[in-house]
Amino acid sequence: MSSRITLSVLKADVGGFVGHGSVHPDMLEKARQTLKQEGKDTLIDFFVTNVGDDINLVLTHREGINSEKIHSLAWKTFLNCTEEAKRLKMYGAGQDLLSDAFSGNIKGMGPGLAEMEFTERTSEPVIVFMADKTEPGAWNLPLYKIFADPFNTIGLVIDPKMHDGFIFEVMDLIEDKLITFSCPRELYDLLVFLGASNRFVVKSIYTNSGEIAAASSTQKLNRMAGRYVGKDDPVLIVRCQNGLPAVGEVLEPFAHPHLVAGWMRGSHYGPIVPVSQKDAVPTRFDGPPRVIAMGFQLADGKLIGPQDLFADVAFDRARQTALKIADYMRGMGPFEPHRLPLDEMEYTTMPQVMGKLKERFK
Ligand code: F6R
Ligand code: MG
Ligand code: MG
Repeated sequence: MSSRITLSVLKADVGGFVGHGSVHPDMLEKARQTLKQEGKDTLIDFFVTNVGDDINLVLTHREGINSEKIHSLAWKTFLNCTEEAKRLKMYGAGQDLLSDAFSGNIKGMGPGLAEMEFTERTSEPVIVFMADKTEPGAWNLPLYKIFADPFNTIGLVIDPKMHDGFIFEVMDLIEDKLITFSCPRELYDLLVFLGASNRFVVKSIYTNSGEIAAASSTQKLNRMAGRYVGKDDPVLIVRCQNGLPAVGEVLEPFAHPHLVAGWMRGSHYGPIVPVSQKDAVPTRFDGPPRVIAMGFQLADGKLIGPQDLFADVAFDRARQTALKIADYMRGMGPFEPHRLPLDEMEYTTMPQVMGKLKERFK
């Protein structure tokens, strides 16, 4: 047991209400009850919410990252929510739980996971981002802007504590390998990879003195399952202020909605819309993709909050821009680049159609 605090965010889609749009309140209540009862000896605090059809568990504790106790508690919680989903005949009940038995670590079992361990500062503001109808590569562009772009983050220029830059840890999802880049020195090398957000994703970011600043969920569930099981709607934790980007610098990239892969059938590009939690119900063409930002102050591991940060009216124009982009993209229907390239779609009929027609290709 460590004196340091661990912040673990775990998410899973274990049933949608209605279709793939949201989570039934009884399921969220079941998650809260389970964490309260079963987590009473291990958790310092917890917060449960949803973005679209994904349940998100924000947990604080002193067990460190990759703790079997914490992962099995989250697994149990998702199992109980699945039972509730089955009772209510929710859509796709249990869809993200890929295994029948818990194996000690939740990684690779379906749920998404972002965790970090640190010594709580005198004041510890953190933001937990949660997205639906997209994939982990969705964080690449905002993380680049937050931690490496002086046009976004003025602190990189004028805060002596940030002027040395940050270290990006990037994961190759295909080769399952990690590489680190020290920025600004290796900025251009970093961008070669981050631009290919379908394959290379930011796993974590550190200060030059080795302090953790950000951690994301980086799995590719569809690759694990070997069949369609939805996009891996991702989560991201960012620590803020006092030598780290300010809350406003961390939120700023979302004022310019970027295009991400996901949306309908995990097979389309669309804008990511920053919304308050109550608006995190993607219905138009099962989308467009949503992101929420829950801000907390930690107090000895207690989660003081959340502040629903994208509820700010200052993001209204970003939402309008995103909706305009959504209209424009939808006009292309089944054509690329609204529809994803063949090898990235979650659904395809290509093998069947090709098989049926192959004799007709002369
Ligand atoms: C995308 C998503 C939805 C479903 C779509 C079809 O991540 O969850 O767009 O892909 O509603 O769902 P099924 O195949 O379950 O009918
Ligand atoms: Mg779903
Ligand atoms: Mg989802």
